[in-house]
Amino acid sequence: MSIPDVPDKNPRINTELRTQRSGVSGLASKNQYRAAHAAQRSKRFSVSRVHPLTPLCCVRGSDGILSGASYLIPDTPHSAKFMVHISKHPLVRHKVTLLRDVQTAPCDFRNLVGEIAQLMFFEATADLELTRVTVKTPLTDCEADVIWQRVGIVPILRAGLGMAEAMLRVLPKACVWHLGLFRDHSTHQPITYYNKLPPLPNIDVGYVVDPMLATGGSASAAIAILKSWGLKNIRYIGLIAAPEGVAVLRNEHPDVAIYLAALDSHLNENKYIVPGLGDAGDRQFGTC
Ligand code: URA
Repeated sequence: MSIPDVPDKNPRINTELRTQRSGVSGLASKNQYRAAHAAQRSKRFSVSRVHPLTPLCCVRGSDGILSGASYLIPDTPHSAKFMVHISKHPLVRHKVTLLRDVQTAPCDFRNLVGEIAQLMFFEATADLELTRVTVKTPLTDCEADVIWQRVGIVPILRAGLGMAEAMLRVLPKACVWHLGLFRDHSTHQPITYYNKLPPLPNIDVGYVVDPMLATGGSASAAIAILKSWGLKNIRYIGLIAAPEGVAVLRNEHPDVAIYLAALDSHLNENKYIVPGLGDAGDRQFGTC
């Protein structure tokens, strides 16, 4: 599927897409809380009423790179309306520059990976759904919001580990399902070596995390594993991508929203992202 042209002006975001929340309140017990979750899950709506491929808030730079691009795809979960989202946030851009620097030592590199991952997670979770609860403050009862969806973080080993740990600090109740995939250096194809997913999905939304979206092979394979597991609502969070990897994900998994900190120029002959940052695993763990 090709990326449509940049619109003349930003079309109005279809307010019908917004989640119709029931406003469950006064949740006194764990059972009531679970029942509210189940009710919300069964209410998940379809976006098939929305005009296909409506571009939203799309900005194309002089280099042809899309920033903050969002596209609607019909018959996909709500989240997938943000198809390719490249962060424009100054904090993200600043930290990605530090990450790229060959002088950045592994301990600083690890911290930066975590910090950028948290900022990206903040952006990628903006459409998680809330339900109302009553919470007792030191002063009085008050109506407040909690995320009802069960969130899973799926780091691709090993480079995704630093991202997952940092994201877990933001949402400690999320569960983490590791997937071990490595790229065969001669064929450049992904090989699965670790997968301990339980028989049935126990999450509502899964975030596949891997710093580098290079050929897209590992990310696509990880998403295919989650789909065959039965998970429908999947997003991808990466730090730096090559256009080749984005194209593979968009073609093979058009329903999966992609969140990136930066989109680079191309892959070199060894399938490394240029300019990139080198090997994200080696630089995090000091194994260069
Ligand atoms: N994996 C990395 O760590 N870096 C790249 O540039 C490509 C894949």
